Amino acid sequence: MARTVTFNQLGPVGLICIDNPPVNAISHSVRLALADVVARAEKNPGIKALLIMSEGSPFSAGADITEFDRPEGEPSLQQVQAALEAFPIPVVAAIHGLALGGGLELAMACHYRLAHKDAKLGMPEITLGIIPGAGGTQRLPRLIGARAALNMILSGTPISAPEAKTKGLVDEVAEDDLRNAGLFFCERLVQEGLGPRPTCSRTVTDGLDEAEIASALLPHARALKGRTTQELVIEAIKASKLPFSQGIAIEAALAQKSLASRESLALRHVFFAERESGKSSGVSAVEAKRTLSPAIHRVAVIGAGTMGSGIAIAFADAGLEVLLNDNDPASLIRSRERIHSTYASGVRRGRIHQNVADERIRRIRNARTLADVADADLVIEAVFEDRELKKDVLSKLDSVLPPQRLIATNTSTLSVSELARATAHPGRVLGLHFFVPAQASRLLEIVRTDHSSPESLSTAFCVAKLLKKVAVVSRDAFGFIGNRMMLDGYFREAEQLLLEGATPIQVDTALENFGFAMGPQRVSDLGGNDVGTKARVQLFKREKRPDPYFVIADRLTEMGKLGQKTGRGFYCYENGSREAMPDPEVNNLIEKLAFERGISRHEIGNEEIVERCILALINVGAMVLEEGIAARAADIDVVWTSGYGFPRHLGGPMFYADTLGLSEVLQRIRHYHEKLVYYWRPATLIERLASAGTSFEQWDRASAPR
Ligand code: 3HC
Ligand code: NAI
Repeated sequence: MARTVTFNQLGPVGLICIDNPPVNAISHSVRLALADVVARAEKNPGIKALLIMSEGSPFSAGADITEFDRPEGEPSLQQVQAALEAFPIPVVAAIHGLALGGGLELAMACHYRLAHKDAKLGMPEITLGIIPGAGGTQRLPRLIGARAALNMILSGTPISAPEAKTKGLVDEVAEDDLRNAGLFFCERLVQEGLGPRPTCSRTVTDGLDEAEIASALLPHARALKGRTTQELVIEAIKASKLPFSQGIAIEAALAQKSLASRESLALRHVFFAERESGKSSGVSAVEAKRTLSPAIHRVAVIGAGTMGSGIAIAFADAGLEVLLNDNDPASLIRSRERIHSTYASGVRRGRIHQNVADERIRRIRNARTLADVADADLVIEAVFEDRELKKDVLSKLDSVLPPQRLIATNTSTLSVSELARATAHPGRVLGLHFFVPAQASRLLEIVRTDHSSPESLSTAFCVAKLLKKVAVVSRDAFGFIGNRMMLDGYFREAEQLLLEGATPIQVDTALENFGFAMGPQRVSDLGGNDVGTKARVQLFKREKRPDPYFVIADRLTEMGKLGQKTGRGFYCYENGSREAMPDPEVNNLIEKLAFERGISRHEIGNEEIVERCILALINVGAMVLEEGIAARAADIDVVWTSGYGFPRHLGGPMFYADTLGLSEVLQRIRHYHEKLVYYWRPATLIERLASAGTSFEQWDRASAPR
């Protein structure tokens, strides 16, 4: 087994170095090795101080999440911490990069901490549905106060080293060479005779009253909607007022409870699903090895409209040079205004410094002609959604760019394969489906055709990584993964429920209470009902199949009720407000459309609304899997949690189906098939998995490419 911890004596200092790539997780092997070196150091009278550091980066990403489903092997992190905290000579942690979760908890059990000026320290456990379980809820309040600790644990976002120093979490910030600074720090402690300073011996000086708790929760209300971990966090931090031994016992019990929760299982599923989908989806291990990560410095974007401008900003934010081309000078001027106003708003909100914004704006330069983008490392086409126009642009790009460069299209409805065939090198063409706003949305669908080369796919993954987006590979097919499931499943069912008797506000509220960030009708109004109608017309035309489902949205488009931008849509928006008010006219319209279709209207319960929309989503998700459009059920979960507002703490539609049990899912789908007939045909994959008593997760393990 590789050594995960090294030990060296440097004069009076015992230097312990954690070396467990890729992220220095505190795995069982690290804990064993730490316990061993600490015991050995204690027996060495020449050592007067211990310094704990890490190799590589980060300092530590915390406990090893892959070990969470197994019984914890001894020594536990708590046992290692207890040995360090009780150590008879000073123990110092020197932090670089990131110290997260258990990594920071390990440092907090040391007697002193210093951090490199660029280091970040955080407790992200809440994003995994667990509470800090290695003393974090007890030691952090002792170091920075209960209120500050609550804020830090609820937000899950790391703080900078200077902020950590101000708060009292670290003693010193090192400007450059951390190892040197650590050694000097230890020697100074020895010279000055400063001994151990156990965090557990301190007391918490501030308390938490209900008003403070409420105000700490407020900024996270959206992120924590429908969640329960925060209640356990609060209970544990309150216990930090008790003697340490009692508080730590309470934390341990609460941590166990959080670890066993459905919320945590779901959030951990999404954590690993995002990493898996961004790696190998659709690219076999052999293909991946054959391809080298290309160097990407300069990117060209063709079409400076809504998407092109957002994509340009996304690349400029990632530090790349961007060439922006549009054949309409007025569009380029509008795009400049959009780019400036996006950065200005970032500056106003304190998200970005003016100088940084200026530098990013300067990185986006106009390219007069397509020939001017010939030296770009890759090109993304985002012109009007017009098949012939796109074919023309792609074939021109193909003739000016060296043959190995990637050409990506941002089409949302056209066949990427057909567009690729318009070039002489279809292997270098694929889809990069960005979502609005392109600079902020997390999801990137990579659309591969039968021709797309492994090199193109590999470049696409690099692009996602550069942009810090989660990538999911989709086969080139109607709506790719996300829009196919939205149109054929989720939105379609929402419209049907309206025709059968529900109101827009009822459908939206039911789904928002389920956990969606926004209900389907509000989403339509936000994006523009006309945008939806136009995209659907293209899509259904491509499939040569009729679209009988979206009668209400299409009629609203005809009536000019385009959504928020016109003040009327499924809802009324008074005087430019974003608040959606029910519109009696729309309710009358829905009744009329239902009557024309012979649909008898009746009251529908909220439970039925949620069940039908979610089951429709799951059913089409299973079809997307059996048709090979998505490679893994987990990929579908990533698409829906990162791009379509499906509640992350429920793990995504396919994980959620597994938690319901596929037999139950099948039985309910059959129920609606019998009751409503029309489109409720159960997916064959669900029938197969349910009769075998298995799950999507097991299907992924058995069938999906690695
Ligand atoms: N345990 C196990 N594996 C981990 C891990 C962890 N804590 N953190 C990351 N990894 C793995 C990833 O799964 C990935 O594995 P793979 O290559 O096989 O897919 C690999 O490390 C690299 O991770 P990323 O692709 O995410 O690398 P990045 O450089 O993009 O990000 C990171 C690095 C910011 C550290 C990010 O991985 C991250 O946020 N990790 C999770 C941090 C976290 O939540 N820590 C708390 C853990 S829970 C805990 O400590 C409980 C404690 O209170 C007892
Ligand atoms: P847009 O209409 O805002 O912008 C298109 C731009 O392309 C215009 O500025 C136009 O002048 C320019 N253009 C047209 N022909 C050109 C040519 N020959 N050379 C250079 N530039 C040319 O369109 P939008 O919304 O930005 O969409 C662009 C693409 O992104 C479309 O394929 C669309 O389907 C896709 N998309 C759009 C989404 C959205 O919600 N708007 C979401 C995801 C994808």
